[in-house]
Amino acid sequence: MNKVTENIFSIGVLNPNLRIFDVVMKTEYGTSYNAYAVCGESATALIDCTHLDFFEEYIAGVQSVCDVSKIEYLVMNHNEPDHSGAICKLLEIVPDIKIIVSQAGALYLKNIVNCECSNIIIAKDGDEIDLGGKTLKFISASFLHWPDSIFTYVKEDRVLFSCDFLGAHYCEPRVFDSKMLAKRKAPYDTALLGYYNAIFGPFKPYVRKGLEKIRDLEIDFACTSHGPILTKAGLLPEVLAKYAEWSTEKTNTNKNIPLFYCSAYNNTGHIAEAIACGIREALPEAIVNCYDLNEHSMDEMSAQINEADAFLVGSPTINRDAVPPIWHLLACVDAVNSAKKPAAIFGSYGWSGEAFANIRARLSGLRIATFEKDCKVIFVPTVENLRAAKDFGAEFAMTLK
Ligand code: FEO
Repeated sequence: MNKVTENIFSIGVLNPNLRIFDVVMKTEYGTSYNAYAVCGESATALIDCTHLDFFEEYIAGVQSVCDVSKIEYLVMNHNEPDHSGAICKLLEIVPDIKIIVSQAGALYLKNIVNCECSNIIIAKDGDEIDLGGKTLKFISASFLHWPDSIFTYVKEDRVLFSCDFLGAHYCEPRVFDSKMLAKRKAPYDTALLGYYNAIFGPFKPYVRKGLEKIRDLEIDFACTSHGPILTKAGLLPEVLAKYAEWSTEKTNTNKNIPLFYCSAYNNTGHIAEAIACGIREALPEAIVNCYDLNEHSMDEMSAQINEADAFLVGSPTINRDAVPPIWHLLACVDAVNSAKKPAAIFGSYGWSGEAFANIRARLSGLRIATFEKDCKVIFVPTVENLRAAKDFGAEFAMTLK
């Protein structure tokens, strides 16, 4: 337990050993499942529950600051199971607790907890609940990062419970940013950016809206759902500025058109270079780079494909399919924001060439605007094949003007 302000406590739990979160996020620095207790004169509210595996530690934290049987409210700022997983266990101890959620949260909660929780209060944007000297104000924060997300603000103490917003998968045993050791700042910065990219990167317009919503609030403490509590005198201004910078839409002055490929005998590689040559001739200002996926990190390639104005994918066909790095790359595409992005497919094949149709099907699933023609070469490209590949590149480029 850590005191945030008078009668507001941090009661979260640490998970320093977590290395993968939600299947897709690497968590090199572990994480914490933050939760808080707001103890008013007439009622106590818990802000967020916890992960199912950590209920014992969580409830011990709750018991260290208040009489559990007197808790009146549980505010679920959103209902992802790392925070909601243990709600049924909490209900076994406090069956009458009122659970405060957004409208969407009420729907999700029902299907997540799968146990009787009839005392649900739906918090609309701007609603308030008075705990006696501590007023909870609810602020709608849809898509930050779930549709049901809300922030909760205690005006008397200038404390914002910001859900996952401004958080980081970073296990900070000293809880507050101001107590973080200087040598931990660089790893924290890495974790903050990784968290932002994975969780909020697809929702930049909502991030900007969220920043706007809290712009005029006096915030001394931003109590996040993961990572250290951010303070006005500590890292909070810096993190807010980073969120503002990262969520600003960047338009490329010159079109960025990368070509990603794999190539067993460099046949697909030669085709990539020929296509690139055609694109450069048609669009001399464009940035056109060829990337052999086996020579670059997938993090780098993921950033490239998501920042591109258009892209091309080239694969040989092995065992009737495109090769695994191509699938890995396409799994990194930001499906929320890539709809209608132009793309094209190329490659060398020997027998039947199923890679083309399979890649096309995947791009279709991502709602990418795939060029109607593929650039296909059987085995080793001839001079004529390479000339045709160059023409293919130029033709694709002309559709981007
Ligand atoms: Fe930390 Fe979106 O859950």
